Amino acid sequence: MSSELKRIAAESAVELVKDGDIVGLGTGSTAYFAIRALGERIKREGLRIKAIPTSADTRIHALKFGIPTTTFEEFEQVDIAIDGADQISRKLELIKGGGGALFREKVVASNARRFIVIADESKLVERLSMPVPVEVLPFAWRVAERWLVKIGAGATNLRSCRGKVGPLLTDNGNYIIDADFGEVAQPERLEQEINRIVGVLENGIFPSRMVSEVHLGTREGVKILRP
Ligand code: A5P
Repeated sequence: MSSELKRIAAESAVELVKDGDIVGLGTGSTAYFAIRALGERIKREGLRIKAIPTSADTRIHALKFGIPTTTFEEFEQVDIAIDGADQISRKLELIKGGGGALFREKVVASNARRFIVIADESKLVERLSMPVPVEVLPFAWRVAERWLVKIGAGATNLRSCRGKVGPLLTDNGNYIIDADFGEVAQPERLEQEINRIVGVLENGIFPSRMVSEVHLGTREGVKILRP
């Protein structure tokens, strides 16, 4: 059921893409449905778009579905970015990075004219509360972890590589620390506080001012939420 709700949310967002757009392509299982739907539109309607993928995985999916890719070296801005989220608060703040792609996702979302979030209804919560993924440089991970605790993380976990020994490496060659701050009362403030730690590259809190729309797949159909 949840994958059906992801699919309808993704397809609804892909309808917003226009001919000629530069499209930011997110990462994760919901974004996968958007990439597939965009590939179908290219085939069906001959849409001439170019996409900037937010991860190596997404780049491979784009190639598979016949979506031409580009980079920020060629284009300074994307017209529309479509991406999933791990948690969405009622105020439309997000936690992202469950798939480890938060840095490129944030670069793309921050340089998008419109940022469309796609998710099934299970992602909607009253307040953000899951551990915040924090991308840290390997050289500094231990000290960054200590600072995360100093600014209020109750528990931290260096994310390990599924099925392999050792820490997960992001597409940028860094580590992820999942830092549990409990319920996040002021997401934007915490986002900035975490990013002030030397050795932190970025974190998975996306403030609501970045979000244009959320397309939420529900059992009653797709609901569109705006901040
Ligand atoms: C990837 O790093 C994440 O930010 C994803 O966007 C997020 O984890 C949502 O993934 P799913 O669509 O697979 O739930």
